[in-house]
Amino acid sequence: MSSKHIETEAIRTQIERSQFLEHSNPLFLTSSYVFEDAEDMRTSFADEKQRNIYSRYSNPNTSEFIEKICLMEGAERGYAFASGMSAVFSTFAALLNADDHVISSRSIFGSTQTLFNNILPKWNISVSSFKIDELDTIESLIQPNTKLIYAESPTNPAVDILDLKRIGDIAKKHNIIFIVDNCFATPYLQQPIKFGANLVIHSATKLIDGQGRVLGGVTVGTSDLIQKIYLFARNTGPALSPFNAWILSKSLETLPVRVDKHCDNALKVATFLEAHDKVNFVKYPFLKSHPQYELAKQQMKLGGNVVAFEIKGGIDAGRNFLNSIKLLSLSANLGDTRSIVTHPASTTHAKLPEEDRLQTGITGGLIRVSVGLEHTEDIINDLKQALEN
Ligand SMILES: Cc1ncc(COP(=O)(O)O)c(C=O)c1O
Repeated sequence: MSSKHIETEAIRTQIERSQFLEHSNPLFLTSSYVFEDAEDMRTSFADEKQRNIYSRYSNPNTSEFIEKICLMEGAERGYAFASGMSAVFSTFAALLNADDHVISSRSIFGSTQTLFNNILPKWNISVSSFKIDELDTIESLIQPNTKLIYAESPTNPAVDILDLKRIGDIAKKHNIIFIVDNCFATPYLQQPIKFGANLVIHSATKLIDGQGRVLGGVTVGTSDLIQKIYLFARNTGPALSPFNAWILSKSLETLPVRVDKHCDNALKVATFLEAHDKVNFVKYPFLKSHPQYELAKQQMKLGGNVVAFEIKGGIDAGRNFLNSIKLLSLSANLGDTRSIVTHPASTTHAKLPEEDRLQTGITGGLIRVSVGLEHTEDIINDLKQALEN
């Protein structure tokens, strides 16, 4: 990790200036790069020198974005992808062989669960899962062919916290690769490599973009693992576009100030909800009532921007609440300047059997709020009128 602060790295990390000496980094819309002569081309393709060859392999804008994330996460190297899911899939595809085994937290993003249930089995790759409050079962799930342990913290949508150091220690003891999806925390609030993760994945579509504009993903970690991921990606083509990388690198310049404000707003929203008599419970990592409050305080700088709460009256009350919302958006994204509400039981997780939903904390009345940057009073007033409607 560099000696500079994260805020400074996010702003001052910049690829070399062109002959125009621009202050702000330009956009490099080019598919390929030119060579001086045959020898320059030969040595470049033979990986005897590091340079841009073709934008599926690297591009100045993606390199700058990756470099910033590496500095913020304390990682050696990374590769940027077209979306968070292409980062998740490509990381698995690059590191796993047929017949391998994965151990994963049960509370993971829906599409990652679909990858485990429907796609990895094509290569006879099996997945065993552990509940967030049963980390002591992880060791018993290890098999001779276990290659990876996978976790998210905070979880989506129930906002549970997993003890990353404890999982990291188990992975290290058994020489298994530990991967953390750090999307909800961002590299500003939590750096999983400190707790033993070998690789960290982000959906940059969320708080890293922060304004609901572009899709993006990134995997960072140790050079040896990233080299495997790079070779897989270089040949299969899930690269982030230079335009999206340019947007995302600019967004990182303001990530710390935006996230500070998101977290401040979210804590106020969570405190309001906790005191409301139509609410059964609120889950926000930095509320004292959160079951893993102490752990969240150790692992994270602030509590993040997502608040989950259970409205009294179950699934019908949840749908009714959504129908009464006036200012906030009903949308599938999160981490936007605009606050967003979702009702997982009737939307994103509706296809799951109720028993599976409940195991990951998704009750009928659970509402997820991605708290944005509008004035807190306006966010709270909208939630209040919808609760009381
Ligand atoms: C925790 C988590 N991981 C991964 C993803 C997938 O990211 P993307 O939508 O950029 O593919 C999401 C999207 O919501 C997410 O919440």
